[in-house]
Amino acid sequence: MCGIVGYIGPRRADRILLAGLKRLEYRGYDSAGVAVLGEGDRLDVVRRKGKLSALEDSLSDAGLTGRVGVGHTRWATHGRPSDENAHPHSTGRVAVVHNGILENYRELKARCQERGCTFSSETDTEVLAHLIDLELQGGKELVPAVLAALAEVQGSYAIGVVSAGTPDRIVVAKNASPLVLGLGQGENFAASDIPAILPYTKQMVFLDEGEVGVLTTDGVEIMTLAGEKVERSPKTIQWSVVQAEKAGYKHFMLKEIFEQPRAIEDTIRGRYDSGTGEILCDALGVDEAALREARSVILLACGTSYHAALYGQYMIERLVKIPARAELASEFRNRKPVVGPDDLVVAISQSGETLDTLEAVKVARAAGCRILSVANVLDSAIPRASDWVVYTHAGPEIGVASTKCYTAQLAALYLLGAAGAQVRGVTGVDVGALVREIVLLPGKMKSVLKRSAEFQDLAHRYAHHRDFLYLGRGLSFPTALEGALKLKEISYIHAEGYAAGEMKHGPIALIDRDMPVVVLMPEDEQWDKIKGNLEEVKAREGLVIALTSEGWGEDVRPICDEFITVPATHPELVPLLTVVPLQLIAYHIADLKGTDVDQPRNLAKTVTVE
Ligand code: G6P
Repeated sequence: MCGIVGYIGPRRADRILLAGLKRLEYRGYDSAGVAVLGEGDRLDVVRRKGKLSALEDSLSDAGLTGRVGVGHTRWATHGRPSDENAHPHSTGRVAVVHNGILENYRELKARCQERGCTFSSETDTEVLAHLIDLELQGGKELVPAVLAALAEVQGSYAIGVVSAGTPDRIVVAKNASPLVLGLGQGENFAASDIPAILPYTKQMVFLDEGEVGVLTTDGVEIMTLAGEKVERSPKTIQWSVVQAEKAGYKHFMLKEIFEQPRAIEDTIRGRYDSGTGEILCDALGVDEAALREARSVILLACGTSYHAALYGQYMIERLVKIPARAELASEFRNRKPVVGPDDLVVAISQSGETLDTLEAVKVARAAGCRILSVANVLDSAIPRASDWVVYTHAGPEIGVASTKCYTAQLAALYLLGAAGAQVRGVTGVDVGALVREIVLLPGKMKSVLKRSAEFQDLAHRYAHHRDFLYLGRGLSFPTALEGALKLKEISYIHAEGYAAGEMKHGPIALIDRDMPVVVLMPEDEQWDKIKGNLEEVKAREGLVIALTSEGWGEDVRPICDEFITVPATHPELVPLLTVVPLQLIAYHIADLKGTDVDQPRNLAKTVTVE
């Protein structure tokens, strides 16, 4: 949600800002704008409601030639989407872009108004521009003015500030919203996320909470909100630019679905001993003592990551054999959860920035829990708030609907379960066999991906249906939820995922010949029961799309309307294969319907508000 880009250097700032904003589109937005410092203390602001193409048109008319500026994509929280509410917010002297929420903005706005400021938007952000301007009018330089203004605000922010009187710098600051700085040669960058500036540099500096950065053409200075200098070395980002581009695919989502074998390979690489089949806990990012001492595990997440958490719950129970439960982070943080120092919390988040997950981590930490996170974005807020981090090495995920990061999370949780079994010496769990099987998984995934055309044909046959049901039991239950979520979020078709055992308690009433039911029925211990569900759907003339294992289920094939198979694998790994056809079916249906697959309406990639 909301994306920020900043640039200072020898090139035309408007072009770099627009290109960066395009790479942040996936975060979700409804308006966009840039502020560029021009010759003779000019501060030009161009803002447009709608897609970036509207801003691009206005920018080509504006012909801004300045070399310093900030840009923003806005996802409305305070004030409807409009040109006036779009960022940057400017006083004429100062322009500000902001991601986050200023909680005490009403009070600050009233104070600014008493001092003669006139507001032209309904946003919380505009107050910051006025506060900084008032400090400048009081005689402060830009950096002290920003520090003084920030001392008054409460809430979350990543900001970028430019001022007409100080054309040689951009001031940025971060508190609970993401911000990364990029170091170039004679030019420097700021952005909400790495892909925005990855084409220009791989040297990145991550700000901590409550830190301020000052960017000039020569370098970047970091300080605390109190103005104390901070030394911070840059990190080298391993992601390639190609990874953050479409590379010939029609949509990022399709490309990311096809990247899954590579994402799994990268996520497991170096984390096991290929000779002994032992999990290398240090390389994985987990602490052996924490695994050994945990009395129970609580997995916290939102959205697709919550489905990974459910899978993780099964992994901990089946492999580590201690109590485990997955919880929606938003529910956990707002209850009074009874947890304590013996509980290990596993927070799962692709972005590492989801507000509810971050807040849930804080609640758990305050109760004394130890925190392990599973995250994809290096040094993001949730890893920083954790004791240990298992990174998924899926590379940047741009499509709003998560695909490769989901299966990479499952791979990481599988390794975590195996590590727990190894450390605790759980009898009956063959860690070496678990490792050997996941090494084979990318090849099996590739064989499913090769059949994309088959799923596209199926999509043609079912795209006109208005409701879908997805049923699964045991380890296939999270997959049923994830399959339904994928379909609904990108195709806008109503879809529900259900634990198949619950079918008789409600959804069965909906089944008729217009209702496709996706039945996840791989070869496992639940086969007889799920077969019963299939019969019940058929008895009510429902359309059955069965998803099973190769060489299995031939007895039910004749009564299924569709029969999809995936290669056989270890039972614990089945969800990493069965989800792939579901992702492809959802994708192809959405593509046929012509929806905005990579940026579905109303959704954001990273949800940084409650
Ligand atoms: C949003 C995204 C989902 C994602 C969820 C949790 O809803 O659209 O794809 O699963 O946030 O995000 P996280 O970054 O915490 O995994």
